[in-house]
Amino acid sequence: MTQLAIEISGLKKKFADKVVLNGIDLEVPVGKIFALLGPNGAGKTTLIHILSTLVPADAGSARIAGYDIISQKEEVKQAISLTGQFAAIDEMLTAEENLWMMGRLSGLSRSESRARARELLEQFDLTEVASKRVKPFSGGMRRRLDLAVSLVVHKPILFLDEPTTGLDTRSRRTLWDAILQLTDEGVTVFLTTQYLEEADQLADTIAVVHAGKIVAHGTADDLKSQIGGEVVELRDEHDVVIKEIPTGGSIHEIKQILDSLEKNTTSEGTRISIRRPSLEDVFLNLTTKEREESLR
Ligand SMILES: Nc1ncnc2c1ncn2[C@@H]1O[C@H](COP(=O)(O)OP(=O)(O)OP(=O)(O)O)[C@@H](O)[C@H]1O
Ligand SMILES: [Mg+2]
Repeated sequence: MTQLAIEISGLKKKFADKVVLNGIDLEVPVGKIFALLGPNGAGKTTLIHILSTLVPADAGSARIAGYDIISQKEEVKQAISLTGQFAAIDEMLTAEENLWMMGRLSGLSRSESRARARELLEQFDLTEVASKRVKPFSGGMRRRLDLAVSLVVHKPILFLDEPTTGLDTRSRRTLWDAILQLTDEGVTVFLTTQYLEEADQLADTIAVVHAGKIVAHGTADDLKSQIGGEVVELRDEHDVVIKEIPTGGSIHEIKQILDSLEKNTTSEGTRISIRRPSLEDVFLNLTTKEREESLR
């Protein structure tokens, strides 16, 4: 049987009258990367806060590394690392000192702390600013240091709430590499992201949360295949996409679409292309469909 790092069953959460999570069930096996996708306000951060014992749920249960989030709070806290929360950066210290301090607080010896700090500074491209105070650091530099601090000691489960928001492409890739390396060491990663590409690149499984429920769950390929085959894309003379038509992928169907486009398209500059569905298509498809249904 696969060992589960995270097991969530029937979790519910309301803030005043607003239902944020309306019965969430999820499982993440040990050593896998799981990505939770959802529009702004979907409840991603709330779910992470519940799982890391910072906020109580109204109903349902969850086990983290086998420990119950209510009756075994302390064990859960010991088993997890959460970015942006426990990884408090001290602005008056240098980047390096922040890492040393976390190492010492986590029980590493002086030399182990120094070695680990050097490694992480290198990995997150912070070596040049290692001995500079954090105070004037840019947002991206802080974000990288924050993550590095949370990785000084590897906990079995790492929660990353939008780890790469605000990072440039290079820093984002650096971070992706670091995350992938962690799973080689058996760490389980639960991340939220607004970047579909990030989920596509990193995650073994992805869930889309919308209107309080998980509306899709599976590998990136599973999700893409849910919305069927190829997408016919129409572009104007400036190469701007003007229409995207999802298809089942059969020659017959695509031919019919092309025939109808030929009849109804007047502009000479219009071009078409046929591409595989992206995660973006899945996401839009799911979240719009749900919205339409809830309005009905
Ligand atoms: N402490 C709180 N009190 C009242 N409402 C809250 C509280 N925390 C969150 N909410 C509400 O719950 C909903 C979900 O918020 P949450 O931060 O979990 O969403 P999210 O998916 O993380 O969004 P984002 O992508 O913007 O980070 C939002 O409508 C938010 O306003
Ligand atoms: Mg959030």
